[in-house]
Amino acid sequence: MRSALLTAVLAGVAVQAAPSPMAARYDHEKRLRFRVDGSFHLSVFSDLHFGEKQGTAEGHKRDEKTITVMNNVLDADPTDLVVLNGDLITGDASTTKNMSGYVDTIVQPMVKRGIWWASTYGNHDSSQNLDPRNILEHETRHPGALTASMAKGKEVGVTNYVLQVYPSNCTHSGKDTKTDRSGKPCVPNMLLWFFDSRGGEWFGRKGKDGKPVPRPNWVDLDVVRWFRKTSVDIRRQHGKVIPSLAFVHIPTNATNFVQGEVRGDDNPGINDETPVSQQAQYWCKDGTWGGKGNAKCRWGEQDVPFIRALSGTEGLMAVFSGHDHGNTWCRRWHEVIDSENIQGNNINLCFGQHTGYGGYGDWVRGGRHIVVTEELLLKFAIDTYIRLETKVAVGRVSLNSTYNRDRYPITKNDKTFL
Ligand SMILES: *[C@@H]1O[C@H](CO)[C@@H](O)[C@H](O)[C@H]1NC(C)=O
Ligand SMILES: *[C@@H]1O[C@H](CO)[C@@H](O)[C@H](O)[C@H]1NC(C)=O
Ligand SMILES: *[C@@H]1O[C@H](CO)[C@@H](O)[C@H](O)[C@H]1NC(C)=O
Ligand SMILES: *[C@@H]1O[C@H](CO)[C@@H](O)[C@H](O)[C@H]1NC(C)=O
Repeated sequence: MRSALLTAVLAGVAVQAAPSPMAARYDHEKRLRFRVDGSFHLSVFSDLHFGEKQGTAEGHKRDEKTITVMNNVLDADPTDLVVLNGDLITGDASTTKNMSGYVDTIVQPMVKRGIWWASTYGNHDSSQNLDPRNILEHETRHPGALTASMAKGKEVGVTNYVLQVYPSNCTHSGKDTKTDRSGKPCVPNMLLWFFDSRGGEWFGRKGKDGKPVPRPNWVDLDVVRWFRKTSVDIRRQHGKVIPSLAFVHIPTNATNFVQGEVRGDDNPGINDETPVSQQAQYWCKDGTWGGKGNAKCRWGEQDVPFIRALSGTEGLMAVFSGHDHGNTWCRRWHEVIDSENIQGNNINLCFGQHTGYGGYGDWVRGGRHIVVTEELLLKFAIDTYIRLETKVAVGRVSLNSTYNRDRYPITKNDKTFL
């Protein structure tokens, strides 16, 4: 009894004396920098859905299994940055107001390994009980959180920001800047854009009927303006186009558009959700909420300005989404969307893999791994595959200029259960 108490006290003291014993593992010098071998590795976890069936044995088991998936995926590959691509928590599945507390559990696999991470929030990360701003607050209490809020505006959501990745030869770092051996500031060789596609319900708002108030499910116009301006500013600052990747939880209508051409051996992956569940779905053109399954308001077109901005961003190699648990492919978008007159510009539109044991569907869990090399960057190409919870890798493709024409093994549509 006494020794147990003593142990507990000592543990408490140890934690107090070194508030973040894991922080030592974070190497700031190497933060968002290509490795000496010229590679940079990202692992994308989508739709973790923590906190479902909160307080029940089943809910507990789901969350435990999700942590195991994350650990298995991270053990299988080198990873420089983890992206949590939305629906970290199922905020609408509980009535308690402390849902953001789950963040402390979610980030453990990264904190333990000293891996940096960056999030986008999804529609389930905002509900009457869950304030997405609280998720950010919880995330940034931990070492390793790079999630930020850069775009300003009344209803822009939270996770709109850009991160810069530096070349392998950039070896010195000051407080917030990196310099090369001669002391000159390093020029980033890749940009990572993160967008908040919002959706779900407004936190703390109640309709006249006492019901939750739906929140628009597309990237806000103020964010599109911020994106265009920041993109131009960075380009001017460095005098060149910097290759980039983008992450947003809910895919756009452009993803729906290219889905019609998806073939298993051109675009390996599961394609069980047709049409794509997309931004502005079930919103009417006049900006009112049509209601789930509404046949008249299947798509309100509010994501068109964002699609235009994506297609107008030179050097944007790929956009990664989650949200549709039953879609895991990538397709290169080069066609013109006639109805909107938007040119595809060879952007790869990709899904990840459902990572969480919360959320609908029994498709085998996993994460999407992305490998960028300084050599491939010169051709605006990247490699990617799905790392399953079983540690097997599937759907290994090269998103290069011949993607959509190269043939790959078809990905098996495997299922796993609780
Ligand atoms: C939130 O509060 C409930 C009720 O007190 C508790 O059961 C649950 O563990 C808490 N969750 C978190 C993530 O702190
Ligand atoms: C570092 O590498 C980049 C290419 O990734 C190159 O443009 C730059 O000149 C190099 N800088 C130094 C100091 O060698
Ligand atoms: C956008 O989505 C709607 C609803 O699914 C669909 O009818 C329309 O064809 C899509 N637009 C394009 C260009 O694919
Ligand atoms: C693209 O990658 C595939 C698979 O690695 C390869 O077979 C193909 O030759 C590559 N295309 C180009 C243009 O490099």
